[in-house]
Amino acid sequence: MLRLVLLTSLAALVLGTDTFSRDDFPPDFVFGAASSAYQVEGAANLDGRTPSIWDTFAHAGNMHGASGDIACDGYHKYKEDVQLMKDTGLEAYRFSISWSRLIPNGRGAVNQKGLQYYNNLINELISHGIQPHVTLHHTDLPQALEDEYGGWVSQKIVKDFTAYANVCFRNFGDRVSYWTTMNEANVFVLGGYDIGFLPPQRCSPPYGDNCSTGNSSTEPYMAAHHILLAHASATRLYRKRYQDMQHGVIGLNVFSYWFVPLTNNTEDKIATQRANDFYLGWFVNPLVFGDYPQTLKKIVGSRLPSFTFAESSQVKGSFDFIGVNHYVTMYVKDNPSSVNTEDRDAVADMAVQLTSIRNDTSTFEYAIVPWGLQGILEYIKQVYGNPPVYVHENGQRTRRNSTLEDWPRVKYLHGYIGGLLDAVRNGSNTRGYFTWSFLDLFEMLDGYESSYGLYFVDLDDPDLKRQPKLSAHWYSNFLKGKNISSDGYIELQKNISAVSTNFQ
Ligand SMILES: *[C@@H]1O[C@H](CO)[C@@H](O)[C@H](O)[C@H]1NC(C)=O
Ligand SMILES: *[C@@H]1O[C@H](CO)[C@@H](O)[C@H](O)[C@H]1NC(C)=O
Ligand SMILES: *[C@@H]1O[C@H](CO)[C@@H](O)[C@H](O)[C@H]1NC(C)=O
Ligand SMILES: *[C@@H]1O[C@H](CO)[C@@H](O)[C@H](O)[C@H]1NC(C)=O
Ligand SMILES: *[C@@H]1O[C@H](CO)[C@@H](O)[C@H](O)[C@H]1NC(C)=O
Ligand SMILES: *[C@@H]1O[C@H](CO)[C@@H](O)[C@H](O)[C@H]1NC(C)=O
Ligand SMILES: *[C@@H]1O[C@H](CO)[C@@H](O)[C@H](O)[C@H]1NC(C)=O
Ligand SMILES: *[C@@H]1O[C@H](CO)[C@@H](O)[C@H](O)[C@H]1NC(C)=O
Repeated sequence: MLRLVLLTSLAALVLGTDTFSRDDFPPDFVFGAASSAYQVEGAANLDGRTPSIWDTFAHAGNMHGASGDIACDGYHKYKEDVQLMKDTGLEAYRFSISWSRLIPNGRGAVNQKGLQYYNNLINELISHGIQPHVTLHHTDLPQALEDEYGGWVSQKIVKDFTAYANVCFRNFGDRVSYWTTMNEANVFVLGGYDIGFLPPQRCSPPYGDNCSTGNSSTEPYMAAHHILLAHASATRLYRKRYQDMQHGVIGLNVFSYWFVPLTNNTEDKIATQRANDFYLGWFVNPLVFGDYPQTLKKIVGSRLPSFTFAESSQVKGSFDFIGVNHYVTMYVKDNPSSVNTEDRDAVADMAVQLTSIRNDTSTFEYAIVPWGLQGILEYIKQVYGNPPVYVHENGQRTRRNSTLEDWPRVKYLHGYIGGLLDAVRNGSNTRGYFTWSFLDLFEMLDGYESSYGLYFVDLDDPDLKRQPKLSAHWYSNFLKGKNISSDGYIELQKNISAVSTNFQ
């Protein structure tokens, strides 16, 4: 009942603060931008890297011919990109390590050229005063481990992931203080093991069409369970062997919608709580309380793996922060499943129908709902005891073309950073914000059709030139301490037209 009251009161939040500056945030709060290995690096077959499940998925034609083979060629252009980050005023950069670049067989020998690349990138960031925030698994498991034992569906992954994490802590931990084990653990298991629209593309009919193997009723829960055990194991290793010396922190990242009941019917309110339990609770409850939410245990029954006492105590408390990726707010309608318990998939277990909060579905861009970010941060504060949070991703989708005047992105960032400030002012323990993405990347949902970048990357140019969009100028102004308000938009545009598109 308590939670229902919370949801209702939050739905009444107002728009985010319009006028603010960087100085309104606590001084140790960090602002940055994000990327991931497969989406930015390219050099997919170079210097000893072997395929990840993403290479396999893209090359099987699932991305309409697009792949991360070249992407932004960040592997070769990291110096120029770090300089651009410096010029923009980024305080931190979130990137991920390609496991199959560092350890090509998934376990065993370390690839010296891979090691060298990440050392170079980290050193370049540090020497420019930019804090590295590193993700270990951004949905790109080495294909070798998928082939050998089915990757995350097997408990064998726990040992291999821990060994990989160990290589990273040992080699980079003297300079990297912010570690995230898994990106979007929840979307990874729903997309990869239930619906099958993401690698490793395991699913079973009638829930997914195009998988050659899998079980949508059981595998999402098995993969999630092994992710939690692997995360806890890597965290335990970090704490035992490295944390005292390296003084870093470690956490897990989840994708977070903000959910609002479609109507005031009790069914929709309960469905909204259920959606939170499935999306967030599935991973965050074990970390905070040592077990899955009661809702999941009741609904999923014997298909939900259980933690032994030892596992539960290892998982509980195995985080220094929660990473949150937030883009959109959804209406929730109760959608009871007619399927028997044993044959349901995770989506049917959830039994909700989600619809975008936007009235107008004709626009490609996301609706701007700053109170959605406030809502999710407030929810984490109240339900999970206000742990430290990093907003690891938040950004606006536009079509990928040469339009540098990306007003929808400027307005989105303005709105959401205002909402973030409101959340922080109301006591949320959020410590940092990363916009997705620094460059226009290879996007995991639609390849090169959409973009989220502050910088346009011209794919027709053999040099893959980076060009600042209006949003890069806007974010740079904010990071450099200027006062931000919507009154500044016209001035911003005039300035940009006047000084051309290059940074000085
Ligand atoms: C399955 O593959 C076929 C043929 O490539 C494609 O037309 C269809 O959209 C795919 N279905 C899903 C759910 O991805
Ligand atoms: C999935 O696994 C469950 C439990 O082992 C089993 O009952 C069900 O038949 C499996 N479904 C498929 C599609 O293999
Ligand atoms: C639900 O009730 C609240 C409080 O009475 C009201 O503000 C809100 O508009 C209602 N929402 C819907 C969808 O009817
Ligand atoms: C939907 O559109 C109507 C009319 O333009 C507007 O009053 C309402 O606030 C909109 N609802 C949402 C959720 O944006
Ligand atoms: C380019 O993308 C923007 C933002 O999504 C859109 O408004 C514009 O119409 C697009 N232009 C072309 C030529 O496709
Ligand atoms: C602010 O925090 C208080 C105390 O946790 C809470 O009751 C209130 O709902 C929050 N307000 C908003 C707008 O989130
Ligand atoms: C921003 O606005 C505040 C309050 O109006 C003012 O005190 C401050 O000097 C301004 N800062 C800059 C960098 O313009
Ligand atoms: C526009 O340029 C002027 C002069 O360089 C500068 O003072 C001002 O802050 C700029 N405004 C914006 C919004 O970038």
